[in-house]
Amino acid sequence: MGKALVVYATRTGETEEIANLVAEGIRMEGAEAVVVNITTIKTESDLAGYDGYVFGSATYHGEMMQPMKKLLFLGEKAGLEGKVGGSFGAFGWSGEAPDRIFNTMKNIFKMNMVGDPLRLKTASLGGGKQMAQGYGRDIGKKLA
Ligand SMILES: Cc1cc2nc3c(=O)[nH]c(=O)nc-3n(C[C@H](O)[C@H](O)[C@H](O)COP(=O)(O)O)c2cc1C
Repeated sequence: MGKALVVYATRTGETEEIANLVAEGIRMEGAEAVVVNITTIKTESDLAGYDGYVFGSATYHGEMMQPMKKLLFLGEKAGLEGKVGGSFGAFGWSGEAPDRIFNTMKNIFKMNMVGDPLRLKTASLGGGKQMAQGYGRDIGKKLA
Protein backbone atom coordinates (compact mmCIF):
# COMPACT_ATOMS: atom_id res chain seq x y z
CA MET A 1 0.00 0.00 0.00
CA GLY A 2 1.41 3.41 -0.98
CA LYS A 3 1.75 6.29 1.43
CA ALA A 4 1.49 10.01 0.66
CA LEU A 5 2.65 13.08 2.56
CA VAL A 6 0.27 16.03 2.19
CA VAL A 7 1.88 19.34 3.23
CA TYR A 8 -0.06 22.62 3.39
CA ALA A 9 0.87 26.30 3.80
CA THR A 10 -2.04 28.46 4.92
CA ARG A 11 -2.80 31.77 6.58
CA THR A 12 -6.51 31.50 7.28
CA GLY A 13 -7.19 27.76 7.00
CA GLU A 14 -8.73 27.29 3.53
CA THR A 15 -5.72 25.42 2.17
CA GLU A 16 -5.63 23.21 5.27
CA GLU A 17 -9.24 22.24 4.60
CA ILE A 18 -8.37 21.32 1.01
CA ALA A 19 -5.38 19.28 2.27
CA ASN A 20 -7.64 17.23 4.53
CA LEU A 21 -10.11 16.55 1.69
CA VAL A 22 -7.33 15.50 -0.69
CA ALA A 23 -6.09 13.13 2.03
CA GLU A 24 -9.61 11.69 2.42
CA GLY A 25 -9.67 10.98 -1.31
CA ILE A 26 -6.29 9.25 -1.17
CA ARG A 27 -7.56 7.02 1.67
CA MET A 28 -10.76 6.22 -0.26
CA GLU A 29 -8.55 4.42 -2.78
CA GLY A 30 -6.86 2.36 -0.07
CA ALA A 31 -3.60 4.30 0.16
CA GLU A 32 -2.29 6.00 3.29
CA ALA A 33 -2.10 9.78 3.72
CA VAL A 34 -0.37 11.84 6.38
CA VAL A 35 -1.33 15.55 6.53
CA VAL A 36 1.07 18.08 8.06
CA ASN A 37 1.35 21.83 8.42
CA ILE A 38 4.42 23.07 6.56
CA THR A 39 5.82 24.46 9.84
CA THR A 40 6.62 20.88 10.92
CA ILE A 41 8.97 20.25 7.96
CA LYS A 42 12.45 21.39 9.00
CA THR A 43 14.93 19.27 7.03
CA GLU A 44 14.87 17.00 4.00
CA SER A 45 14.79 13.98 6.35
CA ASP A 46 11.24 15.08 7.29
CA LEU A 47 10.30 14.27 3.67
CA ALA A 48 11.78 10.76 3.68
CA GLY A 49 9.78 7.56 3.49
CA TYR A 50 6.76 8.33 1.29
CA ASP A 51 5.70 7.11 -2.15
CA GLY A 52 3.84 10.31 -3.00
CA TYR A 53 3.94 14.00 -2.11
CA VAL A 54 1.15 16.55 -2.38
CA PHE A 55 2.17 20.13 -1.68
CA GLY A 56 -0.29 22.99 -1.25
CA SER A 57 -0.08 26.73 -0.68
CA ALA A 58 -2.50 29.63 -0.71
CA THR A 59 -1.65 32.48 -3.11
CA TYR A 60 -0.75 35.86 -1.60
CA HIS A 61 0.42 38.82 -3.70
CA GLY A 62 0.70 36.57 -6.75
CA GLU A 63 2.99 34.09 -5.05
CA MET A 64 3.13 30.92 -3.00
CA MET A 65 3.70 31.47 0.72
CA GLN A 66 7.32 31.84 1.83
CA PRO A 67 7.55 28.51 3.74
CA MET A 68 6.53 26.66 0.55
CA LYS A 69 9.41 28.29 -1.34
CA LYS A 70 11.78 26.96 1.35
CA LEU A 71 10.19 23.51 1.15
CA LEU A 72 10.76 23.39 -2.60
CA PHE A 73 14.49 24.05 -2.06
CA LEU A 74 14.53 21.20 0.50
CA GLY A 75 12.68 18.98 -1.97
CA GLU A 76 15.42 19.46 -4.52
CA LYS A 77 17.74 17.44 -2.25
CA ALA A 78 15.19 14.88 -1.08
CA GLY A 79 15.42 12.35 -3.94
CA LEU A 80 11.81 12.63 -5.14
CA GLU A 81 12.43 11.59 -8.76
CA GLY A 82 9.76 9.22 -10.08
CA LYS A 83 7.55 9.55 -6.98
CA VAL A 84 3.87 10.43 -7.35
CA GLY A 85 3.17 14.16 -7.03
CA GLY A 86 0.36 16.70 -6.89
CA SER A 87 -0.28 20.30 -5.86
CA PHE A 88 -3.20 22.36 -4.55
CA GLY A 89 -4.14 25.64 -2.97
CA ALA A 90 -6.87 28.11 -2.08
CA PHE A 91 -6.94 31.39 -3.98
CA GLY A 92 -8.99 34.53 -4.50
CA TRP A 93 -8.61 35.60 -8.14
CA SER A 94 -5.28 34.67 -9.73
CA GLY A 95 -4.09 31.53 -7.88
CA GLU A 96 -0.49 31.27 -9.06
CA ALA A 97 0.79 29.06 -6.21
CA PRO A 98 -0.50 25.59 -7.21
CA ASP A 99 0.77 25.94 -10.80
CA ARG A 100 4.22 27.03 -9.69
CA ILE A 101 4.51 24.24 -7.13
CA PHE A 102 3.33 21.69 -9.73
CA ASN A 103 5.84 22.88 -12.33
CA THR A 104 8.72 22.69 -9.86
CA MET A 105 7.76 19.16 -8.82
CA LYS A 106 7.49 18.14 -12.48
CA ASN A 107 10.49 19.91 -14.03
CA ILE A 108 13.03 20.05 -11.20
CA PHE A 109 12.15 17.06 -9.03
CA LYS A 110 11.12 14.94 -12.08
CA MET A 111 8.12 13.54 -10.23
CA ASN A 112 5.28 11.50 -11.68
CA MET A 113 2.64 14.25 -11.54
CA VAL A 114 -1.08 13.55 -11.31
CA GLY A 115 -3.54 15.54 -13.44
CA ASP A 116 -3.48 19.32 -13.20
CA PRO A 117 -2.84 21.51 -10.14
CA LEU A 118 -5.94 21.76 -7.92
CA ARG A 119 -6.99 25.41 -7.51
CA LEU A 120 -10.05 26.12 -5.34
CA LYS A 121 -11.55 29.37 -4.09
CA THR A 122 -12.90 27.44 -1.14
CA ALA A 123 -13.52 23.81 -0.30
CA SER A 124 -16.95 24.56 1.13
CA LEU A 125 -18.75 25.95 -1.94
CA GLY A 126 -19.51 24.99 -5.55
CA GLY A 127 -18.46 21.36 -5.52
CA GLY A 128 -15.07 22.15 -3.97
CA LYS A 129 -15.28 19.23 -1.58
CA GLN A 130 -15.90 16.74 -4.39
CA MET A 131 -13.14 18.25 -6.51
CA ALA A 132 -10.60 18.00 -3.69
CA GLN A 133 -11.60 14.44 -2.82
CA GLY A 134 -11.56 13.55 -6.52
CA TYR A 135 -8.04 14.87 -6.91
CA GLY A 136 -7.04 12.80 -3.86
CA ARG A 137 -8.64 9.73 -5.41
CA ASP A 138 -6.64 10.19 -8.61
CA ILE A 139 -3.47 10.35 -6.51
CA GLY A 140 -4.58 7.38 -4.40
CA LYS A 141 -5.16 5.26 -7.52
CA LYS A 142 -1.54 5.81 -8.58
CA LEU A 143 -0.34 4.89 -5.08
CA ALA A 144 -2.56 1.90 -4.31
C1 LIG B 1 -3.37 40.49 1.43
C2 LIG B 1 -3.94 39.40 0.54
C3 LIG B 1 -3.38 39.17 -0.71
C4 LIG B 1 -3.89 38.19 -1.57
N1 LIG B 1 -3.34 38.02 -2.80
C5 LIG B 1 -3.89 37.11 -3.65
C6 LIG B 1 -3.40 37.00 -4.98
O1 LIG B 1 -2.42 37.63 -5.40
N2 LIG B 1 -4.01 36.11 -5.80
C7 LIG B 1 -5.07 35.35 -5.40
O2 LIG B 1 -5.56 34.54 -6.17
N3 LIG B 1 -5.57 35.45 -4.13
C8 LIG B 1 -5.01 36.31 -3.27
N4 LIG B 1 -5.51 36.44 -1.99
C9 LIG B 1 -6.65 35.59 -1.58
C10 LIG B 1 -6.23 34.33 -0.81
O3 LIG B 1 -5.45 33.48 -1.65
C11 LIG B 1 -7.49 33.56 -0.38
O4 LIG B 1 -8.13 34.34 0.65
C12 LIG B 1 -7.24 32.16 0.13
O5 LIG B 1 -8.47 31.51 0.37
C13 LIG B 1 -6.42 32.13 1.39
O6 LIG B 1 -6.11 30.80 1.67
P1 LIG B 1 -5.62 30.33 3.13
O7 LIG B 1 -6.84 30.38 4.07
O8 LIG B 1 -5.16 28.91 2.96
O9 LIG B 1 -4.54 31.24 3.62
C14 LIG B 1 -4.98 37.40 -1.13
C15 LIG B 1 -5.53 37.62 0.14
C16 LIG B 1 -5.01 38.61 0.98
C17 LIG B 1 -5.61 38.82 2.35
